[in-house]
Amino acid sequence: MQDALLDWYARELRDLPWRRTTDPYAILVSEVMLQQTQVARVVPRYEAWLERWPAENALAAAPLADVLAAWVGLGYNTRAVRLREACIVVARDGWPRTAAGLRELPGVGPYTAAAVASFAFGEQVAAVDTNVRRVAERLRRGNPEELLPAGRADDWNQAMMELGARVCGARVARCGECPVGGWCASRGRVTIAPRAAPGTRERFEDSTRWVRGRIVAALAAGDGLPEGIGDDRLEPALAGLVRDGLVVVEPGGARLA
Ligand code: ADE
Repeated sequence: MQDALLDWYARELRDLPWRRTTDPYAILVSEVMLQQTQVARVVPRYEAWLERWPAENALAAAPLADVLAAWVGLGYNTRAVRLREACIVVARDGWPRTAAGLRELPGVGPYTAAAVASFAFGEQVAAVDTNVRRVAERLRRGNPEELLPAGRADDWNQAMMELGARVCGARVARCGECPVGGWCASRGRVTIAPRAAPGTRERFEDSTRWVRGRIVAALAAGDGLPEGIGDDRLEPALAGLVRDGLVVVEPGGARLA
């Protein structure tokens, strides 16, 4: 099963820029961006980011306001804050070379730590995000950690992600195209939970996260606070941004921290 998946990955891999590097900084940037945003949208943002801040020292020295402005459209702003904080720690102390050490960095959880450790430092650890967990559950061949083929953690982790993205999806399982279908307990019988009924899920535009995103985008563009959002929504979102250290409110108005 492992050989079949690794062979498929060797043939099918998409040429993604973060697969051409072992630089831990570049890999960390890619993984943090990919937590929220689709691959096709991440690629140009990732390349522009690395051009502007090519190494951890550069990002560590960048003003937070610039970093937040460059993150607009990539999801939770606090991810960018934590990424910069992680780079400040690394610029001072150097890179932890294990998943356990990487997990101590701000904003780096078990998945991201394992991804960086395996791709940059060759540590033999499984990087398990929700996609990989779903694939392993459908296969029913043990925990994702137990599937790791000896010495191949980097390709294996990429291969499992690739399978989850392209074949064994959350909403569609293409069992007929699956390179490991012959080993899979769920082949052809994957059940997909129905989506929440329309109207029962909060629309993104109604969420506080959306308001926070509007505020940061407007301040980054030099526009002051966004218009057309009622104070009942603007005030609590702004207060949250101030509490999280992303925005400062001064007599002259609000600005990025
Ligand atoms: N999603 C999260 N990490 C990824 C990676 N390294 N390649 C493609 N998609 C991903």
